[in-house]
Amino acid sequence: MDRRRLAPAATMALLCLAAALLALSPAAEAAAVAEEQRTGGKHTSGSGGGCAWSGKASSVWVFGDSYADTGNLGDLGRELTHAWYDPYGVTFPGRPTGRFSDGRVLTDFIAGAMGIPTPVAYKLRRGAAAGLLSRGMNFAVGGSGVLDTGYLQRNISAQIDLFQGQRAAAADNAKRGCDVAVVVVSGNDYAYVADKDNSTSAAIAYIPTVVRGLREQLRRLRDEVGMRKVVVTNLHPMGCTPLFTRPLNYTGCDALANAGAAQHNAALQSVLAALDPTNATFLLLDLNAPFAAHVSDSVSGAGDSRFAEPRRPCCESFAADGYCGQQDDGGKRMYALCADPAKHFYWDDVHPTQAAWAAVAESFRPKIQEFLSA
Ligand SMILES: *[C@@H]1O[C@H](CO)[C@@H](O)[C@H](O)[C@H]1NC(C)=O
Ligand SMILES: *[C@@H]1O[C@H](CO)[C@@H](O)[C@H](O)[C@H]1NC(C)=O
Ligand SMILES: *[C@@H]1O[C@H](CO)[C@@H](O)[C@H](O)[C@H]1NC(C)=O
Ligand SMILES: *[C@@H]1O[C@H](CO)[C@@H](O)[C@H](O)[C@H]1NC(C)=O
Repeated sequence: MDRRRLAPAATMALLCLAAALLALSPAAEAAAVAEEQRTGGKHTSGSGGGCAWSGKASSVWVFGDSYADTGNLGDLGRELTHAWYDPYGVTFPGRPTGRFSDGRVLTDFIAGAMGIPTPVAYKLRRGAAAGLLSRGMNFAVGGSGVLDTGYLQRNISAQIDLFQGQRAAAADNAKRGCDVAVVVVSGNDYAYVADKDNSTSAAIAYIPTVVRGLREQLRRLRDEVGMRKVVVTNLHPMGCTPLFTRPLNYTGCDALANAGAAQHNAALQSVLAALDPTNATFLLLDLNAPFAAHVSDSVSGAGDSRFAEPRRPCCESFAADGYCGQQDDGGKRMYALCADPAKHFYWDDVHPTQAAWAAVAESFRPKIQEFLSA
């Protein structure tokens, strides 16, 4: 439903398990393994595993798309990879960094809520300080999805493969404690199918396939990778992104696309309920409600939102099929830039501003802290 979107995810739970088993006798170890299998990998207490959950993560491993990418998409030129060109990054840090925003993105705010620095992007790992490398890594890359999205970016499964390779190579695993994975799937799978078939209904028919694929990766993170805490986002109201609202002069949202997002979210919620009935391992991070509170068609921007322009992007291409940052052959700007990105929820046709992510983070910060305290 959007052309180029990002999603992130991170994981790292085996380490707690490995440290716990090392401390046990062979008989106790066999019993622990049996218990582990019985409970589906859940630990019932924070003791003995090298991790006493106290509201903070020791490292965070992110998998997903452009909502979470902090620099993993290679620079393939302005037309293909807008996030590496101005005006991206104009608010923070003042230059483009591969983030799909004027500043910080979801990963930055999730890490903040977990009390740790933003994890290094996989692509930028060389040259990163060792201290930072021990705090996790971000494998999310713009354009990716659960399944093939036609962008040739690593899907979630391939990102987890990459993570497992990185972890095997790291020497200080045993020191690690409270590892958390984050999985961000923001709709590229659906955008791909909707584009291909020129219809939102084709995307809606695809929901069971995407959610089944997502379920398999979540199960894998817990049962095969050993992650004991996994945060997974749901879908924002896709029909309220400027991609859909521009033809409506930004007055309303596309009801069918929003219904599709709601259906995905309901399916994801029942998958998690079946996978983890006690909510011990997975936290469903609701992005839909906080987005809707700012951008749904009942929000006019005239006083009922902190965003004066709830659905109009700050960076708006002149042509409907253009893009933020577009230039003509002479280098002349083919887009309009708003005076104050903080007054807009959306930065470009599908991605929020830093101010929008900050507002959304207010709603999830307490939930993350509670999740990491039990
Ligand atoms: C994910 O990507 C890998 C590597 O390109 C590929 O082998 C695999 O089939 C993909 N998975 C899905 C579900 O598309
Ligand atoms: C896509 O579908 C819309 C109506 O749903 C139609 O107006 C448009 O012409 C179609 N575009 C293509 C390329 O088929
Ligand atoms: C779109 O909305 C703006 C105000 O937000 C208004 O000035 C303009 O006339 C509208 N355009 C159309 C085509 O309705
Ligand atoms: C688990 O979380 C969901 C919300 O995602 C909630 O509806 C459900 O009641 C929770 N279950 C338990 C046992 O706390």
